[in-house]
Amino acid sequence: MNLHKFVSDSIKEKLAVLNTDLSNVTIEIPKIREHGDFSTNAAMVLAKPLGQSPRDIANMILPHIAALPFVADTSIAGPGFINIKLKDEFILESINHKSEIINQKSQIIDLDYGGYNIGKDLHIGHLRTTVVGDTFNRIAKHLGHKTKSYNHMGDWGRPMGLIIAWILEHGMPTDADEINKMYPASTTRANEDPEWMERAKKITAELQNGNPEYRKIYDTFAPMSLGRIDDILARLNILPFDENRGERLVAEYIPEFEKVLIAKNLIVTDDGAEIIPVKLNTDNAPMPPIMWRSSAGAQTYAAADLTAVYYRMRTDNPTDIIYFTDSRQNLHFTQVFRASRLAGFDNVNLQHIGYGAVTGADGKPFKTRDGGVASLIGVLDLSVESVQKRVAESGKNLPDETIQAIALAALKFNDLMHDVKSDYIFDADAITSFEGRTGPYILYTAVRLNSILKRVGAHTCAQGVCNTPLQSDERNLLLTILDFNRIINTAFDRRATDMLANYTYDLCQSINTFYHNCPILRDDVDTATRAHRIAIVQKSLETLSIAIDLMGLKIPDEM
Ligand code: ARG
Repeated sequence: MNLHKFVSDSIKEKLAVLNTDLSNVTIEIPKIREHGDFSTNAAMVLAKPLGQSPRDIANMILPHIAALPFVADTSIAGPGFINIKLKDEFILESINHKSEIINQKSQIIDLDYGGYNIGKDLHIGHLRTTVVGDTFNRIAKHLGHKTKSYNHMGDWGRPMGLIIAWILEHGMPTDADEINKMYPASTTRANEDPEWMERAKKITAELQNGNPEYRKIYDTFAPMSLGRIDDILARLNILPFDENRGERLVAEYIPEFEKVLIAKNLIVTDDGAEIIPVKLNTDNAPMPPIMWRSSAGAQTYAAADLTAVYYRMRTDNPTDIIYFTDSRQNLHFTQVFRASRLAGFDNVNLQHIGYGAVTGADGKPFKTRDGGVASLIGVLDLSVESVQKRVAESGKNLPDETIQAIALAALKFNDLMHDVKSDYIFDADAITSFEGRTGPYILYTAVRLNSILKRVGAHTCAQGVCNTPLQSDERNLLLTILDFNRIINTAFDRRATDMLANYTYDLCQSINTFYHNCPILRDDVDTATRAHRIAIVQKSLETLSIAIDLMGLKIPDEM
């Protein structure tokens, strides 16, 4: 259950006797648990409308809150904050009958992340869209939403012309590595040789218009690239995309969608190009039009995104379409969203989550040692090396599968714990530490819980968590577990995957404090307490496993 919601609703129900607006009353979880399990600003907020001092109001409402059956104790702090302590019995009841109650009304949500490119290796710039998009997808599914994940591939633009031009001269590549070298080579040549550039542009336009020779070449190399992408995503433990539908497949819908745009008079010819103006009278900042079709007659990036909205609306009719891309695409999405409204899609929430950069210590985009763009797998391999070094230093001998799982957790957790919008510094050695706010620490905690349960064997306790009074570390841990539902709902509502990661860290802290202060298997622990604590371990592992799974991490057997 969502304990926070239950407590909030119950308190507000009691305050209804005051017959006043309660919308600004909030129920918080104090940072310092000694102050109470929950606290409310009700007295401060209501002082003005009720014309009394906050303390007087607090004294007046205190008995109402104290009368709630689950409240053990109330007190007034500072100028009029009310602190509330729950009854241990209520905590036990809540934890033992914890059902994953879902508070959300199920929605159909289209998610657009990944957006990889045919002919280009996945690089560090794809880390956040992949990790955050995948975790958000998992959270939404966990809450009962119907999601559809789209990999809006860059597979139909000028890079395809550049690659085909290169292939026509140098022959067909044999694997993705070869293709990934062709695109930069051809680009360098195009930058030096205008004729080559013209050639690539012409090939692109002809490919888009159905030239069979170019299409045959395309159909030979594109699958190699796609296969490579699938391998990388599998190694990263990313859910398979529901649709690999990018610029090329969306293009099939351009003719019919264009009719809609023309009927609405939205397309304007401008210097040989076709554009869609999206500027509003209220704009202060410049708002360029959407380029619908270039003067060379080529399909544009914006046309693909706009048509993708059309495709998704008619195929999925989603309540939301959420995009996870680099924040440098903010303007692009503002334009696309405006044009979508003009085209008549106003029953859908279009949202762009623009993320910050992954940088080196210098604050500039992270580069490899030789100064090149770091590939996504290269970054994972750096984490693997770092984990290998640590494990070797500690004298342990862990199987490769475990090393890989730890490194992946290091990389993903570090990405998730940062606010999506902000930049962060990538440091392979910092993220692989087994202590502190890191993926390995999270996994280590789960491995520890598993090993406790393995040691106790099947001795689980039928009555669940049962001892009262609860010790403070037991109590804190149980309350943290009971906060999971609120976290997951808020993380979803705010599109804030960092809330999940940071909650998981707090949960692990509470688990380890409990483990240190509340012996379980020691000889002097009586049977009832042991059973009770084993039940706490089970409840902890249940929630921790869900959190770990939502982040796309895997718990190793040993660490
Ligand atoms: N392929 C693009 C790139 O690598 C990103 C695509 C983002 N998604 C989208 N719907 N435009 O820059």
